[in-house]
Amino acid sequence: MQVMEKTIATAKQLMQLEDTYGAHNYHPIPVVLDRGEGVFVWDVDGKKYYDFLSAYSAVNQGHCHPKIVKALMEQAGKLALTSRAFYNSSLGEYEKFITAYFGYDKVLPMNTGAEGVETAIKLARKWGYEKKGVESEKGKIIVCESNFHGRTVNIISFSTDPDSKKNFGPYNTGYEVIPYNDVKALEKALADKNVIGFLVEPIQGEAGVIVPDEGYLKACSDLCKKNNVLFIADEIQSGLCRTGKMLACDWEGVRADILILGKALSGGMYPVSAVLCDDEIMMLIKPGQHGSTYGGNSIACKVAIAALTVLKEEKLAERSEDLGNILRQELKEIKSPLIKIVRGKGLFAAIEIEEKPGQTAWEICLRMADKGLLAKPTHGNIIRFAPPLVMTEEQLMDCVRIIKETILSF
Ligand SMILES: Cc1ncc(COP(=O)(O)O)c(C=O)c1O
Repeated sequence: MQVMEKTIATAKQLMQLEDTYGAHNYHPIPVVLDRGEGVFVWDVDGKKYYDFLSAYSAVNQGHCHPKIVKALMEQAGKLALTSRAFYNSSLGEYEKFITAYFGYDKVLPMNTGAEGVETAIKLARKWGYEKKGVESEKGKIIVCESNFHGRTVNIISFSTDPDSKKNFGPYNTGYEVIPYNDVKALEKALADKNVIGFLVEPIQGEAGVIVPDEGYLKACSDLCKKNNVLFIADEIQSGLCRTGKMLACDWEGVRADILILGKALSGGMYPVSAVLCDDEIMMLIKPGQHGSTYGGNSIACKVAIAALTVLKEEKLAERSEDLGNILRQELKEIKSPLIKIVRGKGLFAAIEIEEKPGQTAWEICLRMADKGLLAKPTHGNIIRFAPPLVMTEEQLMDCVRIIKETILSF
């Protein structure tokens, strides 16, 4: 560190530091980011880029949103963490705010998305055994192929991605995987009386922004109701205005029994996740049965209130829908054999690349970075486009120009 303070470290040196001292559990695009504001980030050499990933949709409100920064700074200088051994002066305010915002009786605050998912599974199982009357240890949660719900051993136990899963066993049981976007498969799986819940991403983000058919979520939610099974929506990536509505489930008027939020719940400022449901489920958890040292800490509470306020104040759902329509239309108009499919909803989009040697999604992303736009492939040949929702139409059209020029340069 002393060396770095004396000399200005170059991008190459900084990448080497990460490679030498950090685990290689990511494969980043070779840019070293140093500063962010709104839709832009700057690297250590001062080069400016459009951020077209938004930290996997955590930065929906734009980088370093002044209102969220202010909330963080004010609270950090006053009281950061008490643990839940005591009441604190921010938690109740936040709980009242977020439950009214989404229309649920109660919230359980956690930190990361994966913790939110684990919390939802625990709540669902409690409900299954104590309310539905499923025989102890027999409960089953239905999940979908190509799901991504996080990285814990329990969650990867029901992943279908070999990279996420291989050599991390033994795996947990109690899950059944069915195809995504297949109502009939769910209907069949629900015939088992031990089914407690159906855990689903309303749009599969990591799988490559897979948008199910219109009516899928509603049909699944109706089937769950009919079979006394909990509909559990993981809106960690699809929620909070990303798809053009506050929640992706809102597109079909579906209200999840258990709603999981994360990422943009803090606007990228802090790890904040939340699980929302009504008393019938939430009140089954008693003191000592679940928790987290940082969950519901004072900074997280203030940051989340600010982040949620910004979403509504700046009408980011509407903006996401309008700009998303433009983005998909423009992408569809690119005449290139490289583009197989364009899909998405709101500013949550993806293109599938017809890869050839020297013309891969990775190489396209590198060339876009050169031209000042940052995106990253997901699952090999898919490029996800998820810019901050505070983007203007003019900025979006500049991004479209960069994407077009890049693709046509191959
Ligand atoms: C749908 C979904 N669920 C859960 C997670 C896990 O969130 P985290 O990385 O904060 O644990 C992610 C992360 O990408 C996600 O997209």
